[in-house]
Amino acid sequence: MARLDVTETFHHISFPGHIHTQDSLNYALHFQFQDRDTVIATYPKSGTTWMQEIVTLVKNRGDPQLSKTVPNWARAPWLEQHYSAKVLEATQGHRILTTHLPYNLLASVIYVARNPKDVAVSYYHFHKMAKLVDTNDLYLEHFWDLILLYGSWFDHVKGWTSQAGVLANVLYISYEEMWLDLQGSMERISSFLQCPLVGEELTNSLRHCSFSSMSDNAMVNYTQIPKEIMDHSKGKFMRKGIIGDWRNTFTEKQIGIFDTVYSYQMKDCPLTFMWEC
Ligand code: A3P
Repeated sequence: MARLDVTETFHHISFPGHIHTQDSLNYALHFQFQDRDTVIATYPKSGTTWMQEIVTLVKNRGDPQLSKTVPNWARAPWLEQHYSAKVLEATQGHRILTTHLPYNLLASVIYVARNPKDVAVSYYHFHKMAKLVDTNDLYLEHFWDLILLYGSWFDHVKGWTSQAGVLANVLYISYEEMWLDLQGSMERISSFLQCPLVGEELTNSLRHCSFSSMSDNAMVNYTQIPKEIMDHSKGKFMRKGIIGDWRNTFTEKQIGIFDTVYSYQMKDCPLTFMWEC
């Protein structure tokens, strides 16, 4: 079995090695998008899986059949991961694609961002159960820089959101907006996808995208991944699903340093986040 603690460097960014290769990353770079493709772009731990579920349900008009029988990675494959070419060869019609790549390496996108304190906490817990790399508390040590796997959070979010005003086909939404108003968010997303949901289509989609439904859905909760890769006795992928868990994790000193770095890094960026509620 491939070692799980290696990284693959590509365009100066580190990626988890066993799921990314130079070939798979180059495949993503040269990917031929089609007009009807939908791309979900996120920095990890920002609500990727949630948006994959929402878009699947919107495209299927609230019918949960696909979301209950096909794993998220097969119905919304990550472009840059080694298996995607094979999955996409077998896919017909409108495609849902996922990526953690920065904007300049890629095109009609839904970009999801989450407040970075919660991203860091979620990432930290994720790496305790997912043996993608040997982290040794990497995420807490480097918390203020937010230079984690998949590169700098600041570059990722500023890069992608700068495109949201420029490209007509980018929808920007935050994890916190979805959390506070899932129905309003679902209506926005479905109109962006030119597939507005009505009546039961909408209520069914909302039900299946709730935290509790997704926690019970083996097609998105990653319980089917072998224990050697994700050890569910060490934690759950659908962990807490809340805003503001960073308050329970970081010290006042850590938060102070983070806030200083954040103000500096985001000084020219109009984006704001809800930190707790
Ligand atoms: P936590 O670890 O804070 O609980 P990604 O899919 O990008 O890896 O993001 C995973 C994070 O999104 C996890 O955060 C997970 O619990 C949260 N999440 C997934 N589905 C959710 C939902 N329906 N409602 C709220 N949070 C959700």
